[in-house]
Amino acid sequence: MNIDQACEAFKKLLEEQQQRIANMDCTKTDFTNKKVVTIGVVDGDGIGPIITQHAARVLKKLLADEVAAGTIIIKEIQGLTIENRMAQGKAIPDDVLAEIKSCDVVLKGPTTTPHGGTLESANVAMRRELDLYANCRPVSIPEQGIDWMFYRENTEGEYVLGSKGVELPGMAVDFKVTTDLGTRRIARAAFEYAKNNGKTHVSIVTKANIMKKTDGKFTAIAHEVAADYPGITVEDYYIDIMTANLIKEGLREKFQVILLPNLYGDIITDEAAQIQGGVGTAGSANIGDKYAMFEAIHGSAPRMIERGMGHYANPDSILKAAALLLRHICRADKAAKLEDAMAHCPLTVKSDGSAATCQEYADAVIALL
Ligand code: IPM
Ligand code: MG
Repeated sequence: MNIDQACEAFKKLLEEQQQRIANMDCTKTDFTNKKVVTIGVVDGDGIGPIITQHAARVLKKLLADEVAAGTIIIKEIQGLTIENRMAQGKAIPDDVLAEIKSCDVVLKGPTTTPHGGTLESANVAMRRELDLYANCRPVSIPEQGIDWMFYRENTEGEYVLGSKGVELPGMAVDFKVTTDLGTRRIARAAFEYAKNNGKTHVSIVTKANIMKKTDGKFTAIAHEVAADYPGITVEDYYIDIMTANLIKEGLREKFQVILLPNLYGDIITDEAAQIQGGVGTAGSANIGDKYAMFEAIHGSAPRMIERGMGHYANPDSILKAAALLLRHICRADKAAKLEDAMAHCPLTVKSDGSAATCQEYADAVIALL
């Protein structure tokens, strides 16, 4: 590509982004009154099918009465595999996307994203296609006074054009996008969560000293939204010091709701999950106005599969995601039942194979439901 071609490509990207903003639809699905809720279950790659099949068993057990009565439909959706995605050259093959869109909520196993090339991450594509703008990631360690809820913007930032950068001789350029509407809706979601859950502290985390336009906008709009929540203390942090703060005992306990742009949220939630006990212990909710998708925060762990250790994958993360899903569709009692069974399960799963297998652990959790 030469500079003229890059400018042409950039022009097209800007037009696409304007179109995306124009198409944002804020009609919300109301699960309190919905007569039939359809839950899709998508396996994914690597350890995905292993952990997801057990999460599906848990959901079927918890929701058995409602499935029998027809108020809940659980649909297993095939085809979101790296082989099929590569063969079709699509992040999400059309028929799979249509199936996903026929559901209200989806429980998704991790999918593999190839480095380089042009195949986009299935995750990123799904978040965009379903407009799942709020990535909510709870991390809690009660005995250490830690109870954090991360509100990560999930559709913009470095991700939205992550596969659409340009390469010129001797240089590569990627783009980062922050929009008013995109920021306002994630900030609103974070502050609403705080208000509705008795939280009094929201941290806005960016690198606005360096990414002046995009993170500058994110901070400014988040503060505008904050003005509607006078009872909530708001503090600004830069992402670098915030990563340090999360491991600083005596300070980290004060953080409650943490609002951040996409990439910072991606990185810091792995750190937070590790503090909680590992990325295998954290679930993640991807919430839009219409659809929602729930998943583990970790990837498909190809190295575990290569070592033949897939059956020791820890399903805690996807089970926590299943609990988040149940809460989202207003089945809080079922979510509490699952969380309680996990808390009281005598078994643990360790990726080195020194404890129970995924199957044994899931059986034990199901026995407690
Ligand atoms: C996550 C993951 C994804 C991301 C990958 C799999 C695309 O790391 O959900 O945090 O970067 O968002
Ligand atoms: Mg991540």
